Amino acid sequence: MSKADVVIGCFYGDEGKGKVIDYLAADAGIAVRATGGDNAGHTIKIDGVKYAMHLIPSGILSGHTIGMIGNGVVLNPQVLLEEISNLRDHGYDMERYLRISDKAHVILPYHRLLDAALEKARLAKIGTTGKGIGPAYCDKYERSGLRMEDFYARGFKGKLKELTESRQALIRFYDPENETVGEMLDFGRIYEDYARYGETLRPFVCDVVTSLHKALEQDERVLVEGAQATLLDIDFGSYPFVTSSNPTIGGVLTGTGLSASDIGNVYGVIKAYSSRVGEGPYVTELTDATGDRIRELGHEYGTTTGRPRRCGWLDLVALKYAKRVNGLTALAVNHLDTIGKFDKIKVCVAYDCDGERTEDFSTNLEFLGRAKPVYQELEGGFGDITGAGSFEELPRAAQDYIRFIEDAIGIPAKFIGTGADRSAMLVRE
Ligand code: GDP
Ligand code: IMO
Ligand code: MG
Repeated sequence: MSKADVVIGCFYGDEGKGKVIDYLAADAGIAVRATGGDNAGHTIKIDGVKYAMHLIPSGILSGHTIGMIGNGVVLNPQVLLEEISNLRDHGYDMERYLRISDKAHVILPYHRLLDAALEKARLAKIGTTGKGIGPAYCDKYERSGLRMEDFYARGFKGKLKELTESRQALIRFYDPENETVGEMLDFGRIYEDYARYGETLRPFVCDVVTSLHKALEQDERVLVEGAQATLLDIDFGSYPFVTSSNPTIGGVLTGTGLSASDIGNVYGVIKAYSSRVGEGPYVTELTDATGDRIRELGHEYGTTTGRPRRCGWLDLVALKYAKRVNGLTALAVNHLDTIGKFDKIKVCVAYDCDGERTEDFSTNLEFLGRAKPVYQELEGGFGDITGAGSFEELPRAAQDYIRFIEDAIGIPAKFIGTGADRSAMLVRE
């Protein structure tokens, strides 16, 4: 019986998980998404063609991997249908390679409106992606959410009507100036749209839990695709500046139905620097010209919202925390090419809190507000490494940079990204 390998973001998202997933999917029969929704944006470049994946598992791009959307995902059917259509245009056989859990929750139009209304009313903004993620998870945990299987059950229309109408009042409460709510939540139109979405998606809906376990029993390789990241986790992130799911290892289990003993390798993905999009603490953020230079060199603009990402040096204190919380077995380090354009590179090795040095991370906001990064400076100037064929071919300073991270965290860096294209990835055994 085989084990499922997992890919998890270590920091605030956008570490290049999509690229690592795409590499691992070459050997996988199934790639399953466990959490989040279309707030995720995973970019994969294949022979110069750029794919921006939001809901459909990136593993599907291998051409032979079945992409499964797990029960832990909140799914906007309109977005999903657009993605299906886009991939079909690229020649992918979606009927054959896409499956959706009957237990995945559905994002409804009021979720997005409520997301915007709540954000508008908040004094301390989170900077959500506006995709309705938080309100959809609220409905799930409040036990009024609509699941994929409800599309095909009696009472669908009544449930949709009750939800749509009751939430109108909520949106009006948080955003009394919004005069378009009634029009945007016109039930007749929503019912027509959603009934159509349900029928169109019917062939893809299945029992993902059983499919995953049967695949493992038949020795097939299963890959779990993380979205978002450790410091955006609702429990282990910088609450409240987080997303509304558990993108850490626990969410992998509850979002798929795999058990703890089914898990094999847990790969933590980082960039050779760091970034964050949205509000909240960020100890190694650079708000100066160096931060701007990282953003330009790394093309750090959001895949989902197009927002400029905040950028800074790599934070090994936060990375050690991500290793602990997720039980990481190895790292994937992307953008080594980008960081190598700096002559000198700084890495945060500890925090200074009012004169006291610590290497232990905490998500306490007051702690993060006081923590100042303690940097160690390393040599950069790697030159153009995108064409390197192996780790040994990299210049000495680039190898030393990777070894420095490995020594600090205590796990190997198995994957090293040297460029955006699928081919620009070094794999170490
Ligand atoms: P994800 O959400 O974790 O999948 O990451 P995103 O796709 O949102 O952001 C990562 C960005 O970095 C994308 O534009 C990738 O094409 C790009 N990328 C990933 N790995 C590398 C790398 O090693 N070098 C360079 N230059 N770009 C990379
Ligand atoms: P991937 O999978 C980066 C951030 C948002 C915001 C916070 C809450 O591409 O790494 P939400 O819409 O989830 O309620 O927003 O979380 N966020 C992400 N940041 N990458 C992501 O996904 C993100 N998904 C959510 O910017 O700060
Ligand atoms: Mg992303």
